[in-house]
Amino acid sequence: MNRKDDHIAYAHAQTVANNDFDLIRFKPHGLPETNKALVNYATEFLGNKVATPIYINAMTGGSKQAQTINGKLSALASHFGLPMALGSYSSAYQDASLINTYDVINAHDGFLKLANVGADKPLVVAKTAVQKLNADGLQIHINSVQELIMPEGERVFKGWSDNIKAVHDALNVPVMVKEVGFGMSTQTFKTLKNLGIVYIDVSGRGGTNFASIENKRRISTYQAFEQWGLSTVESLLQAEEIEGIHLYASGGIRHAGDVVKALALGAEAVGLSKFFLTLAMEDDLPTMIEKTAHLLDEIKTIMCALGVDNVKALNKHHLIIPKHLWL
Ligand code: FNR
Repeated sequence: MNRKDDHIAYAHAQTVANNDFDLIRFKPHGLPETNKALVNYATEFLGNKVATPIYINAMTGGSKQAQTINGKLSALASHFGLPMALGSYSSAYQDASLINTYDVINAHDGFLKLANVGADKPLVVAKTAVQKLNADGLQIHINSVQELIMPEGERVFKGWSDNIKAVHDALNVPVMVKEVGFGMSTQTFKTLKNLGIVYIDVSGRGGTNFASIENKRRISTYQAFEQWGLSTVESLLQAEEIEGIHLYASGGIRHAGDVVKALALGAEAVGLSKFFLTLAMEDDLPTMIEKTAHLLDEIKTIMCALGVDNVKALNKHHLIIPKHLWL
C-alpha cells in the first residue's frame, strides 16, 4: 500500500471517544427570543462569504482510492457550498500522472477549493499546485511532529518560516497555515503573524492522531508522541490575546456540539476531516448529503437554543469552560 492509502486506512480505523470539547458545556438560555427558521450560520472563509460554518479539511490525493474519496467529497461540497481542501500536492508534483486524483475536484462547482502543500516545500511547488488545480486558496501544513515519527519523514526543519513567507508574499490567492492535529501555542500564532499569515487553522489534538498513525507504520514506536500536542480547545484559548488573525478550528470535531463550541471559542469556520472521511468511505452520496444536512440542522438548533441568530454573536459567554483549559 502507498502512504496515502496507509493514512486513509489507519485514520478510518481510529476511534476517538472523548476530547476536550466534552469538558465544555453550553450555558442554557431560558428565554432565547430566537426563531429557528431565521437562524443564519453563514460566515466568512478566507475573506469570502460562505453559506455554512463548516468545511471539508485536507485529506488526500495521489492514489486511486484518494481519487474516489475526492470525487465523492467534491460532489458533497458542491451540494452544500462547503469549502474543500485537498490533500498535500507533493505526490502530483513528483509524478504528473497523479494529477487526476486531485483534479477530480474540478468536476464540480459552486464551492471554494483549496490546494495544500507542506511548509517544507519551496514557492514553485505551491504555485504549481494552485495553478494546476485552479484553486481559490492554499493551505500550508506544518507537521514537524508527524514528519519526525514518519519512517520516511523529514528530519531537518530549517527554512519552513522562509518558505511560508515566500509563498504568502508571492501568491495571489489567500494562504491559510494549518497544523495536522497537534495544535498551536501562542508562540506559533505570533511567529505566523509576523510572517504575514492571517488565516490560521489550529488543527489540534482530540481527533485524528498522526503520532499514532505514523507509529503504526514504524517497527519501533515513539510512545512519547502518542499524547503530544495542544488540544483544539486549548489552542483556540491560546489565540485569545492575539489580535488581527482569522482563526479556524479543526481536530476532533465529531458533531454539531463541537462545531458550535469551536465557533464560540473564536473560530470563523470549523474544519472536519475524519467526519467526512467516514462518510466518503461508508456511504453513498444521498446518505452523505442526509448526514451532512443533519449536522447543519443541529448546528442551527443549538444556536437557536443559545439565543443567537448569527455566527458572530457566538462567544465564550455561551460556554462553561473549566479553568485548567486556559494554559
Ligand atoms: C489528513 N490531514 C492532512 N492535513 C494536511 O494539511 N495535508 C494532508 O495531506 C493531510 N492528509 C490527511 C489524510 C487523512 C486520511 C486524514 C484523516 C487527515 C490532517 C487533517 O487535515 C486534519 O488536520 C486532522 O485530521 C484533524 O482533523 P480531524 O480528522 O480530527 O477532523
